[in-house]
Amino acid sequence: MKRSVLALQVLLVSGFGVVSTQSTVSEWGQCGGIGFTGSTTCVVGTTCQVINEWFFQCVPDSSSVGPTTTVLSTGTGSATSTAISSPTATVTGFVKTSGIHFTLNGKPFTVVGQVLITNSRNRANAYWVGLMGYGVPDMMTAFHAIAATGASVCRTNGFNEVTAPGGVAYYQSWSGSTPTINFGANGLENFALADNVVTAAKANGIRLIVTLTNNWEDYGAFLVSIQLALHLMNTLSGGMDVYVNQLLGQGQPHDFFYTNPTVIAAYKNYVKTFVTRYLNEPGILAWELANEPRCLGTTGTGSGTCTISTISTWIEEMSSFIKSIDSNHLVAIGDEGFFNDPGNPTFVYQGFQPSLGIDFAANLNISTVDFGTFHDSYDNADQTFGAQWIQDHATTMIASNKPVLMEEFSVAENTIEQYTDWYSIIESTGMAGDLIWQAGSILSNGPSDPNLAVYPGSDVYILNTQHAAALRARDGDPQ
Ligand SMILES: *[C@@H]1O[C@H](CO)[C@@H](O)[C@H](O)[C@H]1NC(C)=O
Repeated sequence: MKRSVLALQVLLVSGFGVVSTQSTVSEWGQCGGIGFTGSTTCVVGTTCQVINEWFFQCVPDSSSVGPTTTVLSTGTGSATSTAISSPTATVTGFVKTSGIHFTLNGKPFTVVGQVLITNSRNRANAYWVGLMGYGVPDMMTAFHAIAATGASVCRTNGFNEVTAPGGVAYYQSWSGSTPTINFGANGLENFALADNVVTAAKANGIRLIVTLTNNWEDYGAFLVSIQLALHLMNTLSGGMDVYVNQLLGQGQPHDFFYTNPTVIAAYKNYVKTFVTRYLNEPGILAWELANEPRCLGTTGTGSGTCTISTISTWIEEMSSFIKSIDSNHLVAIGDEGFFNDPGNPTFVYQGFQPSLGIDFAANLNISTVDFGTFHDSYDNADQTFGAQWIQDHATTMIASNKPVLMEEFSVAENTIEQYTDWYSIIESTGMAGDLIWQAGSILSNGPSDPNLAVYPGSDVYILNTQHAAALRARDGDPQ
């Protein structure tokens, strides 16, 4: 979740918020459904198909789409069609772990999906879904596209700290040192049980991994820019630094988030409120303590005293706190998976560095941490690095006997070659699953955040579909 500036520029250029005058809907675009107000005319060569009551889609005439099976277009590169199951609406039971596997009702559960900043059944990242002010029809479009790859999980944001209420949506606003949690329609209600993110995910058979705060401010900056595009002026920032700045003073060290009792109490209060709201919600797969916790954040301001033990102590306290109020859901850290290997010359294996403070293997051994995560977007050009990075996390997974997910990864070039290589390592090592960055959909106001997005029908989308099927077959996932 660190690429928002680029994403923003593209969004601005594409005229976010401008009413579309387009009269035909492109291939895979939405052409109807409850609440949909756009064009219902599909581009030549495609037909508007009812996928569900919320979502009609322009499907290529050569494809056959029935009530239980969708046949995807092959895109441009591949020669075979890929049949996939349509989404189901049965999301019951809580996902648990057993050794290195996830389980559901005692049977294997494959975690595969995308980041949708609202997360997938293990391998879907789509960060824009929860907070960008999209309505249920757009959420249905997004989750449907994720589910159609065979995804089971999507990773998304359960945080959005602001310092002036208003705008598209926010979950917690700060006035001086006083936080107010927003329960309204542009707050938790938009995420919540009866509506919106969770419901739209569940309607497509998708469970969510929810991240409860952010090491970085940029997601907030992204929202500011969106608001500028919409001519809404609000002062937003985000993440751990909002807690530190509001409670301890502007510019105080980022790592005081992990140690200051007042800050810890405020974060616990937010976490308790959010988690309690979803105690009995099977659509939540797991809580993550933070997106990519590190000793230093966006500003680079630190106390100089933050070490691996600073953050691991915080992980122990926060994960056991969540366990004490919620015994239903899994808990993970949400970190990038840095190793503490002093002999290794590569930075991401030097978690002892003062800017990082992460020891993946030691943190995974904390009893109240249910599974491990790592991210892979550090060296887009280096397929060999990625392969070793995955292999090393699989080795640690086996040693700790807990599941591990590659939950945020993307490459900009040679995508098919690199993902094919990485997926084969994930499949063969027993790695529990993965969530690619990031889900893409054509929404009511145009394409979602295009930054490295995987849109329906693309070569990577089809590869993801084949990979999800391979993982499920490997695991014997009966879903
Ligand atoms: C984590 O626990 C496993 C199993 O007990 C052990 O082999 C491994 O050395 C531990 N790792 C660390 C870093 O403590």
